[in-house]
Amino acid sequence: MVARTFTVAFEGVEARTVEVQCAVANGLPAFSIVGLADKAVSEARDRVRSALSALSIALPSKRITVNLSPADLPKEGSHFDLPIALALLAAIDIIPREDAETTVSLGELSLDGRLVAVAGALPAAMAAAEEERQLLCPRACGPEAAWVGATPVFAAASLAEVLRHFTGQAPIAPATPGEVRASAGTRDLRDVKGQERAKRALEIAAAGRHHLLMVGTPGSGKSMLAARIPGILPPLSPVEALETSMIHSLAGLLDEGGISRARPFREPHHTASMAAIVGGGRGAKPGEVSLAHNGVLFLDELPEFPRPVLETLRQPIESGEVVVARANAHVRYPCRFLMVAAANPCRCGYLSDPARACAKSPGCGEDYLGRLSGPLMDRIDLRVEVPPVAFADLDLPATGESSATVASRVAAAREVQTLRFRDQPGVRVNAEAEGALLEEIAAPDTEGRDLLLKVAERFGLSARGYHRVLRVARTVADLDGSARVRKPHVAEAVSYRLTLAKTL
Ligand SMILES: Nc1ncnc2c1ncn2[C@@H]1O[C@H](COP(=O)(O)OP(=O)(O)OP(=O)(O)O)[C@@H](O)[C@H]1O
Ligand SMILES: [Mg+2]
Repeated sequence: MVARTFTVAFEGVEARTVEVQCAVANGLPAFSIVGLADKAVSEARDRVRSALSALSIALPSKRITVNLSPADLPKEGSHFDLPIALALLAAIDIIPREDAETTVSLGELSLDGRLVAVAGALPAAMAAAEEERQLLCPRACGPEAAWVGATPVFAAASLAEVLRHFTGQAPIAPATPGEVRASAGTRDLRDVKGQERAKRALEIAAAGRHHLLMVGTPGSGKSMLAARIPGILPPLSPVEALETSMIHSLAGLLDEGGISRARPFREPHHTASMAAIVGGGRGAKPGEVSLAHNGVLFLDELPEFPRPVLETLRQPIESGEVVVARANAHVRYPCRFLMVAAANPCRCGYLSDPARACAKSPGCGEDYLGRLSGPLMDRIDLRVEVPPVAFADLDLPATGESSATVASRVAAAREVQTLRFRDQPGVRVNAEAEGALLEEIAAPDTEGRDLLLKVAERFGLSARGYHRVLRVARTVADLDGSARVRKPHVAEAVSYRLTLAKTL
């Protein structure tokens, strides 16, 4: 008779249920795994055999067949060890079959029977809860999986513990959710002296999720400003925290199961590979763009990124989703991030500093920033110059606004947007409003419209540029507490788009 249990296969952030069947039949002794398994899954055979023998359980001298169903779904990774062992233990009547049938499990076995942590326990627990089954996972994954709450999660340190649990000798207590990690928001905006325009742009970017580029000489405070954005963003909502944690779980980045309410801040180096940034590689793992989902993707020294990487970013920036190719399928990961980029104005870095500009200027700047293609720049709504701060100003005590003050205005603007978009699935902030919806919410008054038309004609704004100005103007009006988009709001929005227009 066939014994059954369940596990999952990952397709992007989705965990698809996989039935693990095990049949033990008379015939020449053999142990085979079928059902589109990759190499790591096939190796499960040796790990399971060894882990069982560590428990003094010998495999019967029969023909053992394990089938992973549905057979057309690719199975990757080492987390199939535990469900295969469970199916086998049920098939040879060491654990009750009913228990195996009501369990979704995942975990890698070491040769001595210990359970090794695997990525993806959180999405697996979601899948288990949906089908009303319990989840069994390695001890280290328990706190993360227990966040789902809707289903019992049992976390075991070894196969021996699993065995004692199912045979009733020593039941395992259900796992409890990991600690919510406190946000590490110790960096305050007040530390940055001057740079009022850049700070204002930061506030607008955070309020409406508009992408931002800061251009300035070395040491003018660009990296410092960017690092302070998480501190002015509101904490993740419970839905957002779960979305972001699912991706971090798949990447194996949720240490000790702690789910964080702080917005992610990812800063990939410009030498990072394409797979590291957009996702892919072995196991089609999520990349930095997806790890930054609902948070900030900071691209420091933007022109230094290889061109193919920058061009690849265009599509995810627009759609909020990235498609990662793998051997026989495509997987999708969400990636709605706030892109914040920094650049020097030219290779030598001092183009805009009259005292130090190099002999090649102005050609130096065109060469350098010219590497950023038009279509990419078109997606960046807020562009600011960050001039060097005078030494005299650096000496003065910090008098600017604190992050908390700015954060409260951002939170208020976000609340207005949550209310505005409550009937619009998939739209949370102004930057995501499109078409008719955008025209309805951001229609400027007559004076504002006149100004916008003039600017569009004079500077040849693209259709996308025109709509993007409207979105920013809507956010500026929200920060101003204005129900209507008026001329000053349009003027401010336009000013950020036209900054650096000559060099870019
Ligand atoms: N406006 C400022 N207020 C206070 N300190 C500043 C300011 N600007 C720069 N600094 C000081 O200079 C250091 C360097 O700043 P930061 O790394 O942000 O410069 P950057 O613009 O990113 O330079 P680069 O182009 O070389 O990356 C900061 O750590 C800080 O000590
Ligand atoms: Mg820097």
